[in-house]
Amino acid sequence: MVAPGRALFIFFGLQLAIMAVLYHQGYHHQVSYVLKMLTTSVLSTTDTILTVKDVYSGLDQIQPLSPTKEDLPTCPKTSPFVSGPLKVSFPLDITLDDIVQKNPLVQLGGHYQPPNCWALHHTAIIIPYRARRRHLHQLLYHLHPFLQRQQIHYAIYVVHQMDNYTFNRGKLLNVGFKEAMKENNWQCLYFHDVDLIPEDDRNIYDCSAFPMHASVAIDKFQYELPYQTYFGGVMALQPIHYLKINGFPNNYWGWGGEDDDIASRIFLNKMSISRPPAVFGRYHMLKHGHDRGNKANPNRFQLLSRTHLRWRYNGMNNLLYSLLSKEQTPLYTNLTVHFGIDYH
Ligand SMILES: *[C@@H]1O[C@H](CO)[C@@H](O)[C@H](O)[C@H]1NC(C)=O
Ligand SMILES: *[C@@H]1O[C@H](CO)[C@@H](O)[C@H](O)[C@H]1NC(C)=O
Repeated sequence: MVAPGRALFIFFGLQLAIMAVLYHQGYHHQVSYVLKMLTTSVLSTTDTILTVKDVYSGLDQIQPLSPTKEDLPTCPKTSPFVSGPLKVSFPLDITLDDIVQKNPLVQLGGHYQPPNCWALHHTAIIIPYRARRRHLHQLLYHLHPFLQRQQIHYAIYVVHQMDNYTFNRGKLLNVGFKEAMKENNWQCLYFHDVDLIPEDDRNIYDCSAFPMHASVAIDKFQYELPYQTYFGGVMALQPIHYLKINGFPNNYWGWGGEDDDIASRIFLNKMSISRPPAVFGRYHMLKHGHDRGNKANPNRFQLLSRTHLRWRYNGMNNLLYSLLSKEQTPLYTNLTVHFGIDYH
């Protein structure tokens, strides 16, 4: 047996020898192309290994330019703070105060604008939520600096389902859309599960011409799509597209199905789904036990089979909820809702 390292060495040696012969015989162009491919791929791997950064690194360089906002330049197309892969790690027992300390430029309600340039992107982040306090803190700890690296104008909305009924993610997202659009003319909405931490800041949180599925490579699924039309986790739409598909279904109670329904709505409206490259769209999923009040929805397959008939009547145009409170906390806007009907 030959040791694997040695076998590889011999293999590359042979390749080089063959290329040398080819080169000699006049295949210059092809050989230099192969060599270029080899070197760039080796370089990009080492590059990835070398530049994994802390999500807060370099952020102290973001300083207000001048007190007169009119003089601000437009932010560059590519933010100078975007660097690539990020470390995903959290201090033990992070408190909201710690996160506030580390993000001095974030304003009440979880709003942020780059202080030194006019942002090109205006994005609302909507997080459907119930009883995941630690995950929420971890996500906030990571997401605020992540978005600041991208020089985005953003705000974070947590839509908290405060009742004892089954969790309804689709409906929470509809509420988030409606309440966020009341506050600002957002150009892009990111619908973001609380347990997904983005691992690369080149995954820019803006919208493209088509609905976007951002969480394409989750560690729990070995960084691969579980299936081709998977649309769960983190996705984004422009308001005009959101309204075109009539928002999300309101009648999926419990875990599963609503994300497939949303994907169907998009296809039924003749749009396709865009995705970032898998090296950018990487996410770490935070671990959790079974959630109470969010058991798998046994009706989901039956509901899905009727999406094409029902989507026009089920969504933003029949959304009913009571907003118990809206609180501007230092790191997010807390929208507390009560649905009050459980169909089980
Ligand atoms: C939910 O249930 C708990 C305990 O059963 C009760 O104390 C609480 O008031 C209920 N909350 C609502 C909003 O109904
Ligand atoms: C949101 O506000 C409600 C009402 O004050 C509160 O009970 C709940 O804990 C808050 N949720 C979050 C995630 O801050």
